[in-house]
Amino acid sequence: MALYVSSACFCGFSQKRVERIKAVASEGFATVKTEEEKVKLGGSDLKVTKLGIGAWSWGDTSYWNNFEWDDRKMKAAKGAFDASIDVGITLFDTAEVYGSRFSFGAINSETLLGRFIKERKEKNPEVEVAVATKFAALPWRFGRQSVITALKDSLCRLGLLSVDLYQLHWPGVWGNEGYIDGLGDAVEMGLVKAVGVSNYSEKRLLEAYEKLKKRGIPLASNQVNYSLLYRLPEENGVKAACDELGVTLIAYSPIAQGALTGKYTPGNPPTGPRGRIYTPEFLAKLQPLLNRIMEIGQNYDKTPTQVVLNWLICQENVVPIPGAKNAEQAKEFSGALGWRLTDDEINELRSLASETKPVIGFPVENL
Ligand SMILES: NC(=O)c1ccc[n+]([C@@H]2O[C@H](COP(=O)([O-])OP(=O)(O)OC[C@H]3O[C@@H](n4cnc5c(N)ncnc54)[C@H](OP(=O)(O)O)[C@@H]3O)[C@@H](O)[C@H]2O)c1
Repeated sequence: MALYVSSACFCGFSQKRVERIKAVASEGFATVKTEEEKVKLGGSDLKVTKLGIGAWSWGDTSYWNNFEWDDRKMKAAKGAFDASIDVGITLFDTAEVYGSRFSFGAINSETLLGRFIKERKEKNPEVEVAVATKFAALPWRFGRQSVITALKDSLCRLGLLSVDLYQLHWPGVWGNEGYIDGLGDAVEMGLVKAVGVSNYSEKRLLEAYEKLKKRGIPLASNQVNYSLLYRLPEENGVKAACDELGVTLIAYSPIAQGALTGKYTPGNPPTGPRGRIYTPEFLAKLQPLLNRIMEIGQNYDKTPTQVVLNWLICQENVVPIPGAKNAEQAKEFSGALGWRLTDDEINELRSLASETKPVIGFPVENL
């Protein structure tokens, strides 16, 4: 109980400082300006911004948004999209299952993203957007043709002729060979610029890499859960394998679904399904790490969110894709770019984080 009260007090004090930093930063949010600010995705020719925006929450009513979707939330999501483009973040990550009826969603995230792109292009036809979406390896989907069929449906919802990155969302329960063949076919048909996987173990990553390599197609990325709070990729060989093979690690849930932003405290835990993971007890144990993140951030005039995203970018070969529900959140992400923590700070934060029990990951990682 003592820890609960004292850490909440400290957090409240620091939170005011964070709000001041946010207010100052909002006067001139960093803008990702040039092509040089982009990175190549693995061995592909696709260049993307060093940070992308996750669109899982757009239209979703199964995990996010307190099971409700309305006009206000849609306007906020559009605000997130427009603000991202305004600050120069042009990579957006979605999936056929986000917001879909299959996952009890209100409106498909791909449909929303496609709509936002169309509206933006009507104002500025030159605007560049890199779209990453994903194939759901559902147990009743077999073989390479299922990948192409699903991809064409995604393109239809997005209103696009091709996407920049097409990923297998999770490993198939019956095997992956047909799906990998389907990815290769998609490249050869000109429907995608680059292909990747997601939630793939070191072994599966290597198999996918080798199979595509035989067709002369680089495996561009592996999208996995990675944050200061979830460092499994460092422990299970996935990060090392990505580095060795030249496959970009795309980090999902990089701010631990809001827990690393400092806004959730033992007295103010998140609502909905997140509340079961980031409980008041868990958040109380997180306070020493959050306090240090805030202190380090203050030295750079950066918010905790910007510090933890910078920590990921400093791991090299990592592109984080934090989810943004509104313009403010998206703008704040841009402040994670253009500077770097010192090696001592990076190591100190990892070591402090290792004192917190890891959260439970997405079960598909263990398929
Ligand atoms: N491949 C996969 O299996 C997989 C799995 C999960 C996610 N993903 C992808 O990764 C993306 C990001 O992961 P995620 O959405 O799970 O988690 P996340 O990026 O770690 O957290 C996103 C949430 O944090 C809160 N937030 C965002 N910016 C904030 C800010 N500046 N200040 C305070 N709070 C902020 C928002 O929720 P509140 O405002 O409600 O707190 C937001 O929805 C997803 O959108 C999706 O594209 C992929």
